[in-house]
Amino acid sequence: MREGTSPLIHRLDYQQPAYWIRKVDLTFDLDPAKTLVTSKMQVERNRAVPHGPLRLHGEELNLLRVLIDGSSVSFRQEGHELVIEGAPDADFALEIRNTCCPEKNTALSGLYTSGGSFFTQCEAEGFRRITYFLDRPDVMAVYTVTLRADASRYPILLSNGNLTDSGRLDNGRHFAVWSDPFPKPSYLFAVVAGDLVAREQRVRTRAGKDHLLQVYVRRGDLEKTEHAMNSLIASMVWDEARFGLPLDLERFMVVGVSDFNMGAMENKGLNIFNTSALLASPATATDADFHRIESIVAHEYFHNWTGNRVTCRDWFQLSLKEGLTVFRDQEFSMDMAGTPSARAVCRIQDVRQLRALQFPEDSGAMAHPVRPDSYAEINNFYTTTVYEKGAEVVRMYQTLVGRKGFEAGMKLYFERHDGQAVTCDDFAAAIADANPGSPLATRLDTFKRWYSQAGTPRLTARGEHDAAARTYTLRLAQHTPATPGQGDKQPQVIPVVMGLLDRHGAALALNAAGDTETVLVLDQAEQTFVFENIDSEPVPSLLRDFSAPVVLDDGLSDAALLVLMRHDSDAFNRWEAGQRLALNRILHALRAGQPLVLSPAFIEAMRGVLNHPELDPAFKELALTLPGESYIAEQLDVVDPQAIHAAVMAAQAQLASALRDDWIAAFEAHQVQGGYTPDPASSGKRALANLALSMLVLDARSSGDAVWPGKAYQRFKDASNMTDRLGALAALVNAGAELAAPALERFHALFKDDALVIDKWFALQARAPEVDGRVFARAKALTKHPDFTLRNPNRARSLVASLCMFNPAAFHRTDAAGYVFWADQVLAMDAINPQIASRIARAMDRWSVLAEPYRSAAREAVARVAAKPDLSTDVREIVERALA
Ligand code: PHE
Ligand code: ZN
Repeated sequence: MREGTSPLIHRLDYQQPAYWIRKVDLTFDLDPAKTLVTSKMQVERNRAVPHGPLRLHGEELNLLRVLIDGSSVSFRQEGHELVIEGAPDADFALEIRNTCCPEKNTALSGLYTSGGSFFTQCEAEGFRRITYFLDRPDVMAVYTVTLRADASRYPILLSNGNLTDSGRLDNGRHFAVWSDPFPKPSYLFAVVAGDLVAREQRVRTRAGKDHLLQVYVRRGDLEKTEHAMNSLIASMVWDEARFGLPLDLERFMVVGVSDFNMGAMENKGLNIFNTSALLASPATATDADFHRIESIVAHEYFHNWTGNRVTCRDWFQLSLKEGLTVFRDQEFSMDMAGTPSARAVCRIQDVRQLRALQFPEDSGAMAHPVRPDSYAEINNFYTTTVYEKGAEVVRMYQTLVGRKGFEAGMKLYFERHDGQAVTCDDFAAAIADANPGSPLATRLDTFKRWYSQAGTPRLTARGEHDAAARTYTLRLAQHTPATPGQGDKQPQVIPVVMGLLDRHGAALALNAAGDTETVLVLDQAEQTFVFENIDSEPVPSLLRDFSAPVVLDDGLSDAALLVLMRHDSDAFNRWEAGQRLALNRILHALRAGQPLVLSPAFIEAMRGVLNHPELDPAFKELALTLPGESYIAEQLDVVDPQAIHAAVMAAQAQLASALRDDWIAAFEAHQVQGGYTPDPASSGKRALANLALSMLVLDARSSGDAVWPGKAYQRFKDASNMTDRLGALAALVNAGAELAAPALERFHALFKDDALVIDKWFALQARAPEVDGRVFARAKALTKHPDFTLRNPNRARSLVASLCMFNPAAFHRTDAAGYVFWADQVLAMDAINPQIASRIARAMDRWSVLAEPYRSAAREAVARVAAKPDLSTDVREIVERALA
């Protein structure tokens, strides 16, 4: 058992509620200091469970009255519950009146104000901070919402569904009535009220229905919504074409808000977005921002089916909607990217992200299965495991049943469960039942271990060629390391998409039919696969397109990796081979405690990639970027962040200087002419040019040359788009160039009124490669900058999370100052916004693998936070798990 004070909620304790709420009629009298909420509910006893009291959730509310069928009833308040003992056995009408205080709501959960407007955030348990309710996803109701507010301050009044009435009231107030015909859980409820403007577009779907699409933002931001609108339309078209899923509402609204805990939220018909995930213009947003916006707009839109029409029975099933919807947005992004090469670039970026964030999570104190077994605070489980590993699990279904089979499975899933709150088991059953006899259906129970076992499986592959028999025997073995609370792991189903190459790089036939690619399905601890008619020792290309979220040890020599890097038909594995070559060098140096020296063969291979006449610039940029420090740390039993940083810096410096002439050529050859568009081809060119520029400025630093820093500064000044401007600025800042300071100053002056750009300004400085403690000192000083505040989550993340979570060498210091900074920030943040505090708290997930003196100092800092008596449940769960 885990020690600690936060009570845990267990998955296996799930019980249906004692009552259902079928209809809700909500009235809001909106006022920032005191909003009055009147809720009239149609309640029905659930005869499937024993009769008991009606227990409603409520937090931070001021209760005014409770009526059942029009008469007052007795009730009591027990912690965060309102308990009514004498509820009738028959259906009844329950009326509750309460107030809440939006302007004091700095946690940004429930009803809050931002920039003078009202917004809500209800997932996961925010609705109970608006009014008393059965705030759980299996209670689905039809909502009618009346909003009343001052007409001049809040001209726009929005809620879910369709506008059914509106008009003037006395005292300069007005009202709007919204009704949502679809029964929904309370976490999908939303309200927005304020002085907003909208970009509008009418569209007709394939099915011939007309819809009104709106993107609401603050006045002045309208020209930054074009990309979001285009992304929304593209998402609609794609979901209908790929999965036959049309928009089911006449009106679909998207709203931007500057203060928001996450990226965005899929409230029915009224998606609410962090402005960072919505607003873009060429002058203020990078290619990466454009790409991220497209995928988040799509993600929230896709939730309308995978999440809203079919929702989760309980929060342990979160990946049912999140893993599936991330998979869908990844597929969408790949289809939008178009060419095979651009698709591969998407895939590589997704995998890089998974390895940088999810793999460490899966091997740290917070390791949990895709479907967790228990939690103290559900907000702590909106994790990269539930989202990104969850998406990989969905991808494996598709790999095992094929694309058509997966589409048939989805169809069956909606046929069975439309309008229901269901579980991950229901999803698995639908995909398997639609594909009887498939390698999924025949191993379903084993496959489902992906939901119950935490940890990243280790896959070992060793091949043996028998020249006499002309066979190649591939032995695959799997093992999943222990994670907190899970000692022994069972074998999982691992689809290994693979091929064999001869040593000149030609693809070999794997069977009599002549296939050059196949899927091996591993479902035991060890299995052997034999290939016939193989004349000479082949090079195996395993786990193509990253067909399973595992760590692969294929024991390949550098020579074999070079064959794959040059010739594999699978672009993902070509990239992977290059990464492995670099990783092997870095790990070797770290383990031997020797300075890192890149081999001439590696440098020549990289030169070959950089100058390759056919490869896409976007691919080149990925191939020439070294593995990240957190991914390198994952490969080591004892982590010395400073040593890793030094090794990566050394590798980068060697790559910069050895390829100097090639970088110059690459920089010059990849200038994009004409107006800015964020398409894959031109963003790939910009990415490679920016990498080249950063290498050249870095090399200038050691060679003392002033030309390239000067060129970077000029480019920074003259840039016509943010990608080039920030790229040039980053080149200067990351190289520690003297021109970095004036450039940063100029950048701030140019964009001082654009919060999202100022976030970039903070983040760039907090993420710069550490040299002699200067980056840490600068970041710490920036907490005193007039533009810095912990109250805005984007700003807090841009500085504090950037430093503590994305800059290991600046954070992990022998004097422990980084940890002291972390503890101070977490504690300060916890008093304002526990969800954000708890995200930042996760910087210490992996303290126990650190080398000394980091380890002891880190533990002490975690203990100091844990010692605070009035910590939020959010942060308490994180620090307790870290110390367990
Ligand atoms: N459900 C949102 C999404 O992924 C994320 C979210 C969770 C937003 C909780 C706010 C609060 O699409
Ligand atoms: Zn989501």
